[in-house]
Amino acid sequence: MEHSVAIADRAEKVIARCKRLASVSEVRGSTCRTFLSIAMRECYRVVGDWMEAAGAEVTIDAAGNLRGFYSAAQTAAPRLLLGSHLDTVPNAGAYDGVLGVVLAVSLLETLGGRKLPFAIEVIGFSEEEGIRFGTPFIGSRALAGKLDDELLDQKDTNGVTVRTAIENFGLKPAEISRAAMSTDSLAYVEFHIEQGPVLESLGIPLGVVEGIAGQTRGEFILLGRANHAGTTPLNLRHDAMSAAAEWILEVERVAKREKGLVATVGRIAATPNAANVVAGEVRVSLDVRHKSNDVRARAAEFLAVQAEEIAHRRGLTMARKILLNQSAVAMDPFLMDQIEQAAGEAGCKTHRMVSGAGHDAMILADKIPAGMIFLRTPGGVSHHPSESVSVEDVAKAIECGTLLLTQLAASAEFQKRMVRA
Ligand code: GLV
Ligand code: MN
Ligand code: MN
Repeated sequence: MEHSVAIADRAEKVIARCKRLASVSEVRGSTCRTFLSIAMRECYRVVGDWMEAAGAEVTIDAAGNLRGFYSAAQTAAPRLLLGSHLDTVPNAGAYDGVLGVVLAVSLLETLGGRKLPFAIEVIGFSEEEGIRFGTPFIGSRALAGKLDDELLDQKDTNGVTVRTAIENFGLKPAEISRAAMSTDSLAYVEFHIEQGPVLESLGIPLGVVEGIAGQTRGEFILLGRANHAGTTPLNLRHDAMSAAAEWILEVERVAKREKGLVATVGRIAATPNAANVVAGEVRVSLDVRHKSNDVRARAAEFLAVQAEEIAHRRGLTMARKILLNQSAVAMDPFLMDQIEQAAGEAGCKTHRMVSGAGHDAMILADKIPAGMIFLRTPGGVSHHPSESVSVEDVAKAIECGTLLLTQLAASAEFQKRMVRA
């Protein structure tokens, strides 16, 4: 293992790189990178250069994922996948997703050209947040072979489909099947900030993810009648805004009734969106999560019934689009043990935990064993510019990652998986 001063230098470099990428944005003055925007092109150029300098061969697949392949000691060896996403929410912090990619590049740099019995493919996923099209995981779904026509035909608010966005970026949607992960992929490991307060409250730098909560995402459309705000008496209105407001509070009430359930309306769009016009149409997003698929599904269904009832009572109609129904997933027990062991050797106590946030790992876990390592998040703040991470914790993560690679390279059980691959 490198001297701790050298590891701290690497950690500083990782943080500086994340900060640098935070300035690569489609919005002046804040960080925002959505699926295959112009900012993404610049982000890929910068991260691709880092990957290449670390000894990886760099490509962009047809779903826009940035992929860096670091070969094994021998040709025809299987590969370990490392990575996270390079897209962001609007007004984002510097670390959500990006840290996992930059940290994986740092692990390649730490190898310094040394080859392992398996290759390493570092992936910067093109889309995980679901901002531009409402549906998340576009990049990882392509790797899992699940980027279907329905998703390719989905439109953003400008009417541009996923398919057209891919073409506009100079890529070929017809080649999406070739973005699927290689059949020799052994496992996927993702570093990510926790995005919550648990590790900080326990005074622990690294967490081992046991499972990731499922998500239902949808859009509800309340259709009333636009009319003059001054002349239309309240009892003669079909006000889509008031109906939406009533339902949004119901969403909060329903979530509060069930332990561990979270439900969020984070986006609202009114038409015509004018101060002196009763809103004729309101579109609201819904995001429901729980570690139990049953609890999540029941809550989402109940909220749909409530929306219907509110719309009916107020003389409106209601339509809904389900944009995602992603089951909760468990992380691989072998990888959890290996991560715990590596963290222990790096001098860290760890904590096993369920992730409330969605991650690319939950999509890849359907195909190959997946593991995740969380880094303590100061203040538990994420999806916000004040998101941060400490140099010490990043250093621990680099140490843990390096030890994990060494362990996996020496592990009889991992070798067995390699023979099967
Ligand atoms: C991704 O960050 C999500 O969990 O929404
Ligand atoms: Mn996020
Ligand atoms: Mn993320």
